[in-house]
Formats: sequence, C-alpha cells, structure tokens
Amino acid sequence: MIRLGINIDHVATLRNARGEGHPNVVNAAKFVMKNGANLITVHLREDRRHIKDEDIKFLSKLKSIPINLEMAANFKMLKIALKYKPNYVCIVPEKRKEVTTEGGLDLRKNNRNILKIIKILNNNKIRTSLFINPKKNDIRLSKLLGVKCVELHTGGLSRKVKAKRNISKDLKNFITCSEYANTIGLEVHAGHGLDYETAIILSKVKNIKEFNIGHFIVGESIFFGISKVIKKFKKICR
Ligand code: PXP
Repeated sequence: MIRLGINIDHVATLRNARGEGHPNVVNAAKFVMKNGANLITVHLREDRRHIKDEDIKFLSKLKSIPINLEMAANFKMLKIALKYKPNYVCIVPEKRKEVTTEGGLDLRKNNRNILKIIKILNNNKIRTSLFINPKKNDIRLSKLLGVKCVELHTGGLSRKVKAKRNISKDLKNFITCSEYANTIGLEVHAGHGLDYETAIILSKVKNIKEFNIGHFIVGESIFFGISKVIKKFKKICR
C-alpha cells in the first residue's frame, strides 16, 4: 500500500482569493484524513501565496494528523519548522516567480545549508526528505546529505503522459532510481503533477512508498467531491 499524502495548498489558494476564512485549511485537513489520506502536505512558500504561518501553527496542533512541511533550504524556514515541529519536512527548491515547483533541488548548490538543516531536523526527530529529479547521482548525493527519504519529481513524466508521448524510458528510469534509493537505505516518495493516469503508472514501481498529490485532487473535487476522489486514489495506492 502506497501512503497517500494530500497537499492542501490550493484549499488555501481558494481561501486567500476572498481573504477570509473559508474554505478552512484545518477543517480540510481533518476531512481528507477522515476520508483516507495518510498525511497532509503543505508548502510554506517564502511569498506565502497559499499556506500561511498561522496555518502551520494550527495544523501542527492536530497531534493525530501527520504533517509534511515542504520548505526551502534556509534558516528562516528551519526556525519555523523547529517552532511547530511537523512530523516530516521535505526540502524543496523555490523560485519566487515560478507558478509551481518546477524541478528538483540542485544538490551541488546550497548543499552546505542543506547538510546543516537536515542534521538539525534529524536530531529533532523530524523525518527528512529531499525533493529531487529522478537521477541516480542526485539520489547518491541525497544519501550523503543525511536525509532519510527522497521525493522524486514526477512533473516531467506527468507532462509526457498528458501529451500522450512515449514514457517507457522515463518509467524505466523511475524503476532504476527507486531500486537504487531503496538499496542505499532511502525511502522513496513521488510527487508533482500526478493524476489518476500517472498514479496508476507509478503505483507499479515497487519501491515507491508515498505519493504527494495536490492540484489534481483539489481540482477534480470540484466535479466529484473530495471523498470520491480520495477513494479512487486509495484504490490505485493499494
Ligand atoms: N510534492 C512536492 C515536493 C511539491 O512541491 C508539490 C507541489 O508543487 C507536490 C508534491 C504536489 O504537486 P501537485 O500539486 O502538482 O500534485
């Protein structure tokens, strides 16, 4: 069974469109957990365009809900993580002007900070992960940086599936990368741009233990309701 992490950033996007409190992010977290999610993922972006510090504060009070905080590799963010102590932290690259996280981390840049941040998070018993491109060398570097998990960026594969292009090479690469990560002791997660079709494809990759899915779930829920959408993903994760 693959764990299903639901990214609720876009519940906050919708809330922020009105600048008031609805739809409420904490209620959304409780609701999706009741309907089968295994964890809640939130990205506290530096420009706070969706999730805000207050959201992290209230979400982290829900002790029965595992929270996966996605954050950039800097010490301001680390301070917030240590204040609210989410169960998990996934370090992601961040560019102010991007619409969404465009690719995995460049581990040759900023790796001193990443190394320090991971060490502190590990010491605080927060599960650590790095959001990386599906490349063997990035997996090897992740291990050297002391992280416990890697989340492989599935955006490229998802785009190809949507464009009906051949993905046999990409899929083979995901299988190779996941196997390699597993053999060197890293837990493998996958996320970005996933929908039913891509989740079905990747659910066949033996070593993937967790999916993190946001935009499609929130979008699809407009038509079918979030509980039905989660049920469909849970079937795929089985
Ligand atoms: N995983 C990570 C690390 C992310 O940064 C994001 C959001 O960009 C997701 C998963 C979810 O991606 P999506 O919203 O496309 O499902």
